[in-house]
Amino acid sequence: MDLGKQIFLLIMCLQVFLIAAVTDPQDFAALSAVKSNWQNTPPNWISIDPCGGSWEGIQCSNSRITSIVLSGMGLTGTLTADIGNLPKLQNLDLSQNMGLTGTLPPAIGNLKNLVYLSLVGCSFLGPIPNTIGSLTQLISLSLASNKFNGEIPPSIGNLLNLYWLDITDNKLTGTIPVSNETSPGLDLLVNTGHFHLGQNQLTGTIPPKLFSSNMTLIHVLLDSNQLSGSIPSSLELVRSLELIRLDRNSLNGPVLLDFTGLTNLSQLYLSNNKLTGPMPDLSGMNLVTYVDMSNNSFDASSIPPWFSSLQSLTSLIMERTQLQGQIPDSIFSVAQIQSVVLSNNELNGTLDIGNNYGAQLEVIDLQNNSITEFAQGSGYSKTLMLKGNPFCAKIGSTENYCSLLQQPNTSYSTPPNNCVQHDCNSDQISSPNCKCAYPITGTMHFRSISFSDLGNASYYISLQASMMDAFQSNQFPVDSIALSDPIMDEYDYLDLRIEVFTSNSDSFNRTGFSMITSQLNNLTFFQRPSSFGPFYFTLDNNGYFSGPNKSSNKGIIIGAAIGSSILVLLLLVAGIYAFKQRRKADTATEEAIRLRDPFASWDRNESAGSRPQINGVRCFTFEELKKCTNNFSDANIIGIGGYGKVYRGILTGGKVVAIKRAQQGSLQGNVEFKTEIELLSRVHHKNLVSLVGFCYELDEQMLVYEHISNGTLKDSISGKSGIQLGWARRLRIALDSARGLAYLHELANPPIIHRDIKSTNILLDDQLTAKVADFGLSKLLDHTEGHVSTQVKGTMGYMDPEYFMTQQLTDKSDVYSFGVIMLELVTGRNPIHHGRHIVTVVRMAMDKTKDLYNLHEILDPAISVGNTLKGLEKFVDLAIRCVEEWRANRPAMGEVVKEIENIAEQAGLDYDVEMLSTSASHYDSNEGTSLTTKSSLSTVEVFHILR
Ligand SMILES: *[C@@H]1O[C@H](CO)[C@@H](O)[C@H](O)[C@H]1NC(C)=O
Ligand SMILES: *[C@@H]1O[C@H](CO)[C@@H](O)[C@H](O)[C@H]1NC(C)=O
Ligand SMILES: *[C@@H]1O[C@H](CO)[C@@H](O)[C@H](O)[C@H]1NC(C)=O
Ligand SMILES: *[C@@H]1O[C@H](CO)[C@@H](O)[C@H](O)[C@H]1NC(C)=O
Ligand SMILES: *[C@@H]1O[C@H](CO)[C@@H](O)[C@H](O)[C@H]1NC(C)=O
Repeated sequence: MDLGKQIFLLIMCLQVFLIAAVTDPQDFAALSAVKSNWQNTPPNWISIDPCGGSWEGIQCSNSRITSIVLSGMGLTGTLTADIGNLPKLQNLDLSQNMGLTGTLPPAIGNLKNLVYLSLVGCSFLGPIPNTIGSLTQLISLSLASNKFNGEIPPSIGNLLNLYWLDITDNKLTGTIPVSNETSPGLDLLVNTGHFHLGQNQLTGTIPPKLFSSNMTLIHVLLDSNQLSGSIPSSLELVRSLELIRLDRNSLNGPVLLDFTGLTNLSQLYLSNNKLTGPMPDLSGMNLVTYVDMSNNSFDASSIPPWFSSLQSLTSLIMERTQLQGQIPDSIFSVAQIQSVVLSNNELNGTLDIGNNYGAQLEVIDLQNNSITEFAQGSGYSKTLMLKGNPFCAKIGSTENYCSLLQQPNTSYSTPPNNCVQHDCNSDQISSPNCKCAYPITGTMHFRSISFSDLGNASYYISLQASMMDAFQSNQFPVDSIALSDPIMDEYDYLDLRIEVFTSNSDSFNRTGFSMITSQLNNLTFFQRPSSFGPFYFTLDNNGYFSGPNKSSNKGIIIGAAIGSSILVLLLLVAGIYAFKQRRKADTATEEAIRLRDPFASWDRNESAGSRPQINGVRCFTFEELKKCTNNFSDANIIGIGGYGKVYRGILTGGKVVAIKRAQQGSLQGNVEFKTEIELLSRVHHKNLVSLVGFCYELDEQMLVYEHISNGTLKDSISGKSGIQLGWARRLRIALDSARGLAYLHELANPPIIHRDIKSTNILLDDQLTAKVADFGLSKLLDHTEGHVSTQVKGTMGYMDPEYFMTQQLTDKSDVYSFGVIMLELVTGRNPIHHGRHIVTVVRMAMDKTKDLYNLHEILDPAISVGNTLKGLEKFVDLAIRCVEEWRANRPAMGEVVKEIENIAEQAGLDYDVEMLSTSASHYDSNEGTSLTTKSSLSTVEVFHILR
């Protein structure tokens, strides 16, 4: 069928479709206009009938658009006033689109039916429009983690249906508005359960009028602002309160609150203020679990009796609160107690933990007090910190608890569900059910928790179970959830990493993805165990769907009266699309033929004498390899990957090799195997791991590589291998691996894209020369097109966002991954660390006007061992160019090599500024090896001198 016929048919179809379109024309026009200011809308947003079911994320009722959910779609652009022309809209969720910016249009106030508005985790700025107060149906207003500034609009006080008010983590200023004769205020929100106003720049006092007995608040979060004045005693009128966070402000004066009425109170944070007067009395508050009043200026007092009387208390945090006198042992025997932190006080006398201490007690921190004796023999063996007490000086502080800063175990990670985890070969992650897949990854930021023993698995197990319950009972496509890396952040929020795996295939489609990221911010979606307070979720910036979108043809549908010129354009788009699809299908057929017998072209002969010999790469028999690995004994295993196991072997003659043996049913097929042999046999470069031989018989596929003694770069950076990498060494490793890659891109014939560059694929030999490994996923670069279209593979965190979106692989995709490695070298952090992408972390921390670009805090401490950090800024500049979002803005690998050479030279690392072309000429592998050794030796000498 030729293209003409296809277009003709499409015209016919579309005309039928046009007549059948169900979307209200005004709604269509409005949404099209909104869309025209966005990039990366779902690829299927091309029909003229959003309600017809083809526009992902759109729901309608009676031809009118009622719901827009595009959470985490990688949208970029602005939200225009056209959004106000969707009068029936009830649900607008654009959360987790970091690329959405600009101001929130006042026209949003026209959405009189809006019930749910979530813009969490976008980049909106400017003031929150006062028209927001017209959305009187609103139940949930979630604007957390944007860049809104200006004041809180008093009109929010008109939202009498509002249950959830969340404006945390913005740049809001001014005072908290309360009503007067002429203006509404937040005090009118008597149906609201949640005031989440933390992490802003609010000033002034907390207005006493804000709270009254008519209110039904359960959470009041005003933490991390600049509020001053005293805590209004009207707060005690809100009997429903369960959580109060007023910490990290400048509140002063005595706390005149009577807590006895707040019988539901579970968590109280008053820390880091300037509160004075007597320490607040919490006697009889039997639901209180977590109390932190640290760093205030309370009157000096001895330990109040209520410390030991709270039946539910898990965490008592009272640093620097002027406590004095003897510590009663009853404080350690509170039934649920996990942490007693009373450091930097003036506690004296004898410390006696007693024999009755609570079974869950994990941490006792009494550093910097005046304790003179320690009654030992209680048997308490968990974390105990006594440094800075006279008692320690006396005994010469040889005891652990006097010297070392002990840290309790606070790690957790969901274990495999009765199955064996294996490393997944590409960017996939192994799920708790041991399936390799592409999960949704992000961080849940809990604004409060009722416990402090972060290493206690039972909390996370019940959280995970209740989340699974909710997903499954709502028939979401979720296979499993992994929780890991709990950590208290600088705001005392518990950050917990989450990975959600899909049940359908290995990755989410847009609908599934958006559904789940959206619900992860829906407060009622699942019943949290009571130990977890409210949270917000942020998505990792991993570009699941981001990048330029070829099918979002800006402007085509703008204004969209359904005129004929538009129809023609639409058809053209559709025609091109169909044409591309057909070409994809053709390629797929060729691929299928190739798959059937990948070795056909090798002219294989069963007799051992005529085994294929390629470019000096040896063909081993199964018996030979079996023998040299001691019958593939477990003791010889040096690695396990998605492909299979890697064994250490010693060939007759003593050469040590690494043998990669494909496991039965391995995901990598014969094609990859053959590709890898062909590629590796052709490339020889001192910064590439070279292939010694291979074996394919008896259903076995094995590759035999030179053995690289010092393991992966990742192991060295993480300190696992015990190798110290100072700045100079890191610079050299970057240069080595850049050279290896540049060789693949620019000198191999045909050029090769590695496409899985990551720190576990960079190996270090005994001279610490870096070598790029693992070509199992490599693809030849077809120069006629300049890119390779292929199923997306790669590793989360290292993956080029543009590649992910377009599925077109170019050498610039490797440049992106290499840039990530450069940042890893500088920071020592994983590409995804506490749920945030290293690129984002560095970009945000960077300030070019400051020394070392202000990166001190995120630099790997080990980097400065023994030398200066000369050239580090330029190195970071280069890394940031490598991770530019658009590949056109990234340098080529050859350029990267040159720049690193310059940086090294200017930094005085006077070594080995050898041209790419000379190193590329070592085609004979033996000669290459000897040259390698020679030049590395001189380099190492230089390094010894430098350190
Ligand atoms: C009433 O409150 C509004 C907003 O908070 C403020 O601008 C105005 O000055 C107040 N009016 C009076 C009479 O206090
Ligand atoms: C509480 O509500 C009642 C009735 O709606 C009202 O009369 C009263 O003034 C309110 N009290 C406060 C303190 O706002
Ligand atoms: C401990 O401190 C209290 C209050 O400062 C003081 O009265 C008492 O004498 C001290 N006890 C000892 C043993 O130093
Ligand atoms: C996308 O995923 C959802 C949820 O699993 C599923 O219902 C839907 O059929 C999928 N859509 C497509 C186009 O595959
Ligand atoms: C939030 O979750 C609840 C409970 O599952 C559900 O009824 C509600 O529709 C959800 N809200 C949105 C906006 O999806």
